[in-house]
Amino acid sequence: MDSPFLPVKPLEDVPVGSCVSIELEDRGIALFNLDGVIHALDNTCPHAGGPLGEGTIEGDLVACPWHGWKFHIPTGTCRKNPTPSWNVQRYDVRVVDGIIQVALPSKTE
Ligand code: FES
Repeated sequence: MDSPFLPVKPLEDVPVGSCVSIELEDRGIALFNLDGVIHALDNTCPHAGGPLGEGTIEGDLVACPWHGWKFHIPTGTCRKNPTPSWNVQRYDVRVVDGIIQVALPSKTE
């Protein structure tokens, strides 16, 4: 079964060039609006747990607000330590009728 998309926030709450932290079914998720395209990553920085949704957007990167590690927003790739264990999970996102929806992995993944 495909991962379900769940409504999380009106698109207007995440203006172009901004990011926010949200909670969805006990997961912290960071939403980003890059030139009108919404992206979603795990909100917890793998370095020490900083909230990426409160970071600074620099092009297509987000700088963690705690120590500045940078992550590629569309993929979650860590630019500081480019090995898979330092990447953050990305989530599929869509916008339906002005509402941002995020797909969580199924419980078996
Ligand atoms: S917690 Fe994110 S860079 Fe340290």
